[in-house]
Amino acid sequence: MQQTWWQASVFYQIYPRSFADANGDGIGDLRGMTEKLDYLKDLGIDALWLSPHYPSPFLDCGYDISDYTGVGPEYGSLDDFTSFLHEAHARDIRVVLDLVLNHTSDQHPWFIESRSGRDNPKRDWFVWRDPAPDGGPPNNWVSIFGGSAWELDPQTGQYYYHAFLKEQPDLNWRNPEVKRAMWEAVRFWLDLGVDGFRLDAIGTIFEHPDLPDHTFKLPPSEFFTPNMLDLDDYGQLMRFQVRQPGLHDLMQELRALVDEYPGDRVLVGEDEDVAFHGSGDDELHLVFNFPLMRVERLTPMHIRANQALRLSELPPGAWPCNTLGNHDTRRVWSRYGDGANDAALARLHVALMLTLKGTPFLYNGEEIGMSDLVLSDLSEMRDTMSIFQYHTMIKQLGKTHEEALSAAIESTRDRCRSPMQWSAAPNGGFSPPDVSPWLPVNANYTAGVNVAAQLDDPGSLLSFYRQMLRLRRATPALIAGDYHALHAHSDDYLAFLRYDAASSQRCLVVLNFTDAAQTVIFDQIDKHPRLLFSSHPRDDQPLALDWLALAPFEVLIVELA
Ligand code: NOJ
Repeated sequence: MQQTWWQASVFYQIYPRSFADANGDGIGDLRGMTEKLDYLKDLGIDALWLSPHYPSPFLDCGYDISDYTGVGPEYGSLDDFTSFLHEAHARDIRVVLDLVLNHTSDQHPWFIESRSGRDNPKRDWFVWRDPAPDGGPPNNWVSIFGGSAWELDPQTGQYYYHAFLKEQPDLNWRNPEVKRAMWEAVRFWLDLGVDGFRLDAIGTIFEHPDLPDHTFKLPPSEFFTPNMLDLDDYGQLMRFQVRQPGLHDLMQELRALVDEYPGDRVLVGEDEDVAFHGSGDDELHLVFNFPLMRVERLTPMHIRANQALRLSELPPGAWPCNTLGNHDTRRVWSRYGDGANDAALARLHVALMLTLKGTPFLYNGEEIGMSDLVLSDLSEMRDTMSIFQYHTMIKQLGKTHEEALSAAIESTRDRCRSPMQWSAAPNGGFSPPDVSPWLPVNANYTAGVNVAAQLDDPGSLLSFYRQMLRLRRATPALIAGDYHALHAHSDDYLAFLRYDAASSQRCLVVLNFTDAAQTVIFDQIDKHPRLLFSSHPRDDQPLALDWLALAPFEVLIVELA
């Protein structure tokens, strides 16, 4: 079967505020992104996902949008956007935008109108409810970002619902006018030529209309902080607030809209539920395999189990989508490193992303080994969620400043959002030396963690990424092949086959997850091995698969003919 572009592509997520600052104001912008397209092309990227570039008061780092068809002035103008898009397309790079359907900013004109009076025609565009008999919130629902999910509007005497910050009121998707208005915005960008959307927080679009109280044991909502949300309990905890009926119909409607456009525009869901694939070709094209990354350590056992389950769960025709990091999580380097072998592990992890079956999503900066930014002071923090958590811990939970600060530093999403490190120049070459970037640059830009230092160094992580991306592009089995796990017993190494019937190419991938040499025996494979790639020099050509010696953390990719 012929693959579509989004099945064959490697995606790269750009966090616009931190990617490239062309006008030197401390904030990344569209001109900066345009200037870096050659870098991305050379890296081997096929498609970009841009975190929100829209006008926003920036209470949730752009995920609070105040104009769905605009461009945030700090990023440039609509003309800057169209020339960015044009230049990306000229290099055969597709562009996917972030689309936040669940909520707007409280500064969006729709909400300003809606809150202006109970009789306002847009009142019902958001989720308004009367107070409980005691005057408190309508029920005990919590915001994912902490505290109650309800905010009182004193002027009109009703509460509005917000799954996230109180500055992010939820739209009422049961109102057809909301849908119409949002679909217009979707068409606006599709008409401009964007290649699709990453759909933010789709699970929270609808909530239970009868507002039943949660019965799950919850702290009173004012005591609730996001770090109490144990992910295993998330679905249970948020039972009436997430994944409510209506969601799949809505996603199918959006798919039908997108399908009206030529060029296979893509929809990528920020959710892990394979049900969002619908029956395989009528809902979302891609749904992130988040369970893969929801562990503190990536082990062969975990990866194998994840793949077995994930691939078997997908409806026929659906295509997998893997990632290890984004703007909400710790950086791959820090999260999956062990402190001793971080550089080797970073290589292993990107090799995993680029050889597993499915569309990989990489996150800007991981290719040079950017690590978590550790802030020391609340005043440097930009992530409202962690600032809110800090205050709740002090005011409601009686914690000390030190305790609350260290929890906020630990949980803040700022740590993965620091400016891209382009060179060893002051500010990592992101902004001019006399400017303070919107978030501090990680100090390790002076220690080789920058693009310029790694670009021409064949031994750098960046060179490893480029090599692996080139190899993948030239190897049909790695792009399109079926996945078949081998050696299920081993938690030291991961071995699997990828077989592409169209090209009849078969590849064996072996990843040594330990710091020790391993000998692996593939005595069932009767094909001739041809080395495609090894992260370590090998002197055993031709390879003997019945007694294969692997170096510590070796990445080995072999074609079987
Ligand atoms: C998911 C986004 O990835 C995250 O950054 C944001 O805060 C929430 N959705 C709310 O929009």
